[in-house]
Amino acid sequence: MEQLMRNFFLFLAKNRFFTNMAKRYGLRFGAARFVAGENIEQTVKVIKEFNRKGLLITVDYLGEFVDNEAEANEMADNAIRTIEAIGRERLDSQVSLKLTSMGMDISDELVMNNMRRIMDAAKQNNVFITIDMEDHARTEKTLEIFKNLKTEYDNIGTVIQAYLYRTEKDIEELNQFSPNLRLVKGAYKEPATVAFPDKKDVDENYKKIIKMHLLNGNYTAIATHDEQIIEYTKQLVKEYNIPNDQYEFQMLFGIRPERQLELIKEGYKMRVYIPYGTDWYGYFMRRLAERPANVAFVLKGVLGK
Ligand code: FDA
Repeated sequence: MEQLMRNFFLFLAKNRFFTNMAKRYGLRFGAARFVAGENIEQTVKVIKEFNRKGLLITVDYLGEFVDNEAEANEMADNAIRTIEAIGRERLDSQVSLKLTSMGMDISDELVMNNMRRIMDAAKQNNVFITIDMEDHARTEKTLEIFKNLKTEYDNIGTVIQAYLYRTEKDIEELNQFSPNLRLVKGAYKEPATVAFPDKKDVDENYKKIIKMHLLNGNYTAIATHDEQIIEYTKQLVKEYNIPNDQYEFQMLFGIRPERQLELIKEGYKMRVYIPYGTDWYGYFMRRLAERPANVAFVLKGVLGK
């Protein structure tokens, strides 16, 4: 049943009609639990409040699977405005973005132009950029673009998903770039031909790549809400004397907020991924797919409490 619901929400996540409707009608159905606001002003307030509590941030102007040039350019402009707001307001925040929103599905030239504009602004404002990882059809291209940009800019990292079979090899190959990587389980609906169908195998592979990347001496963001993985990481860094400035934990806005604060009190670095904007639908559906209990929030939203 759980698997069925997961597939249902991941299927809905890609529906263009609902995506467009959602943009028009604003944050609905409990989405505000996972999305900080629709504009940068609301989001800056949230970031300041989080920073005050000692939480680091990575902020994402929501948007994905953009299929026309004008929209991709506008998405890049919005990313730049976000970067400038971070600089102006002196926020302790990085930026996360998706290459499909910058025109990756349209042309190489478009996505590279947009990314260079963004990276120049990020360099000027001293902001670190993480390229989110999308579905497996785009993994190769995303890594290729990341490697290209990494040779030109220092302040860039990307994401590696533990559920893909290819991941261990990617970690090995990327090591030559000493990359700052965010390691995650993976959020998309993927076939068994490319990804472990069994959660147990994903968890094992996740532990394996955390250990590989840390012992390679690279900066590692462990982005998970899974207590078992957090505990594993704590033991690992203790056993191998890995310094505090070589890793951090990350969680999503609205998920396990009390645990986020506890980890800071325990002396760990914690970064919260804060999404904002009007294109919240796909992101929201993936969060529902991860945890059927969240659907209760949606029903409350639909039924008006
Ligand atoms: P898992 O799903 O096994 O959950 C473990 C426990 O955490 C659950 O039992 C529950 O208690 C809690 N939990 C998990 N999800 C929850 C939810 N939605 N609501 C409430 N509780 C929940 N993926 C991707 O493919 N590309 C990317 O670029 C990113 N980027 C990214 C950034 C950051 C900062 C995070 C934290 C995650 C991502 N992800 C991602 C998403 C990631 O791949 C994964 O889908 C989610 O983090 C859920 O997996 P967990 O590791 O939390 O474990």
